[in-house]
Amino acid sequence: MTRTARACKELKELCDMAKQIKTGIIGQGRSGRDIHGVYLCKDDRFKIVAVADTLAERRQRAVQEYGCAAYATHVELLQRKDLDLVVNASFSHQHTSITKDILTAGCHVVCEKPLARNVAMVDEMIAAAKKSGRVFAVFQQSRYAPYFQQVQKDIFGLIEDYRYLLWSIYCRVYLLHVRRQAKLLRDVLRDSILRKYFF
Ligand SMILES: NC(=O)c1ccc[n+]([C@@H]2O[C@H](COP(=O)([O-])OP(=O)(O)OC[C@H]3O[C@@H](n4cnc5c(N)ncnc54)[C@H](O)[C@@H]3O)[C@@H](O)[C@H]2O)c1
Repeated sequence: MTRTARACKELKELCDMAKQIKTGIIGQGRSGRDIHGVYLCKDDRFKIVAVADTLAERRQRAVQEYGCAAYATHVELLQRKDLDLVVNASFSHQHTSITKDILTAGCHVVCEKPLARNVAMVDEMIAAAKKSGRVFAVFQQSRYAPYFQQVQKDIFGLIEDYRYLLWSIYCRVYLLHVRRQAKLLRDVLRDSILRKYFF
């Protein structure tokens, strides 16, 4: 069994054991509060035990709304030993470094999108997840929405239906291109021979 599969199994076991997943949220803005906080509060499988936000008023609001602990930085939050899962809803440019910190602290992580600026950064996070044996998930919620899945199905279905037609159009265009290139080459050769021997 791969490390990722083991980590997923562990997370599922936590759910199956009817043990609440102790969750921390980094960032209490539009995403950390309005999306994750609002949802996690309603789902009995999760318990928000801590949040981190640099803004004091957002920390106070979280304490009132979730009855949890609140820290000014993610570093302080990650010093807790009881966290199973941490949601990374910090600013986009911090996603890679904070996700690596969460994994190094031994927690599963759900990271907000956009995940990173480039592939190398994603590779760094994957390497950290493999090393820690924890689940590293990206919050691409729309991909699971019925409307998105329907559009995806329709588009792939359309491509599948017209695959042979598209392939045959492509071949014809390519053939035309090759013929045009061959004609150009022939003209150039003919001109240079004529110039060399007859003019
Ligand atoms: N999936 C979605 O549909 C969706 C929707 C909105 C935002 N997002 C993403 O969520 C992320 C956050 O966006 P937002 O709109 O919530 O921003 P926001 O500015 O409203 O909130 C971010 C919060 O994080 C806090 N913060 C940042 N770094 C911190 C740190 N190291 N320690 C503690 N607190 C920290 C800030 O104080 C701020 O309150 C962005 O990456 C954004 O792209 C995704």
